Amino acid sequence: MNTNLKKILITGGAGYVGHVLTPRLLASGYQVTVYDMLYFGCRLPNDPNLTVIEGDIRDTAKLAKAMEGQNAVLHLACISNDASFELDENLSKTINYDCFEPMVIAAKQAGVKRFVYASSSSVYGVSDSPDVTEEHPLLPLTLYNKFKGMCEPILWKYKSDDFTCTAIRPATVCGYSPRTRLDLSVNILTNHAVNKGKITVFGGGQMRPNLHIEDMVDAYEIMLTAPHEKVHGEVFNIGFENHSIADIALMVQKVIKEEFPEKGEIVIETTPSNDNRSYHVNSDKVRRVLGFMPKRTIEDAVRDLAHAFKNHLLPSSFDDDWYFNVRTMKKLGAK
Ligand SMILES: NC(=O)c1ccc[n+]([C@@H]2O[C@H](COP(=O)([O-])OP(=O)(O)OC[C@H]3O[C@@H](n4cnc5c(N)ncnc54)[C@H](O)[C@@H]3O)[C@@H](O)[C@H]2O)c1
Repeated sequence: MNTNLKKILITGGAGYVGHVLTPRLLASGYQVTVYDMLYFGCRLPNDPNLTVIEGDIRDTAKLAKAMEGQNAVLHLACISNDASFELDENLSKTINYDCFEPMVIAAKQAGVKRFVYASSSSVYGVSDSPDVTEEHPLLPLTLYNKFKGMCEPILWKYKSDDFTCTAIRPATVCGYSPRTRLDLSVNILTNHAVNKGKITVFGGGQMRPNLHIEDMVDAYEIMLTAPHEKVHGEVFNIGFENHSIADIALMVQKVIKEEFPEKGEIVIETTPSNDNRSYHVNSDKVRRVLGFMPKRTIEDAVRDLAHAFKNHLLPSSFDDDWYFNVRTMKKLGAK
């Protein structure tokens, strides 16, 4: 633990990543405040060092109050993923972009020492480059990607010696969380393989970087403990395995056959896709600068999900809207 940054506020700390990150930071000795709309409810543990505030990041006054006395902010709250924009463009713009600058100003004014922003490796869009490093131009294909990228330079406007600012661009996360999303590529394929015995691959040639959720959480912890001079004003890609969707489908098929031999053959069906987002993300910088190396594979994530299915931790995995961001937000009629 970084004893200078003991009190952490996580916006969006009750989401998919937050449900693994928050318990981890508590176990490491941090005092954590989760500030979240609780769109997906809250299954965070009861812990004397955890405070959960149901709040909207667009409510700057309430957020500013929650930031008082905090040492660091991890900003995860978001209308996540591209399809969420099907919902209401204005909802996404107000949450993913408009309120970002007031939030950063509020954090700085509250005396927060470090601000870590969860951007996304999808900001690169399509690239033929064999290795997309942090210097690669941002070619966003969707509004989600565009707003993610547009917030980064806003953060740099406020960086100062006593306000450490860092942006991370994570790959698509995979694996089990007490709030598992089943609308992310590896998790989708695993759900279909386990429960339908069939995986449908759209396109297949697109390269997509993935990251095990526990490695994602390791990366956030490192962003809290790293020395100021190594992370200040820096952007880090955080990814691990770059594979084509077709290869990921084969991995899922193999693991699920091993885990559920009684289910017999898992069929892979390929159909054309108009989602061409493809990028081979290079995450050497975070290894070089901070010594961060992911430790878990996509296969580990698939196996973890398989065990969760076996243990009935993911019931009604097609029917329950809760696993799917867009469906949940539509149901809630979020504004
Ligand atoms: N999951 C991934 O594959 C991935 C990859 C790259 C980047 N990211 C980024 O990491 C962050 C976390 O992702 P996730 O998968 O846990 O997302 P998630 O959708 O599961 O969680 C987002 C959380 O933010 C909360 N939220 C949304 N709008 C809010 C608002 N106005 N005020 C307060 N809280 C609000 C939601 O209730 C939810 O708990 C996001 O910023 C996402 O863009 C995720």
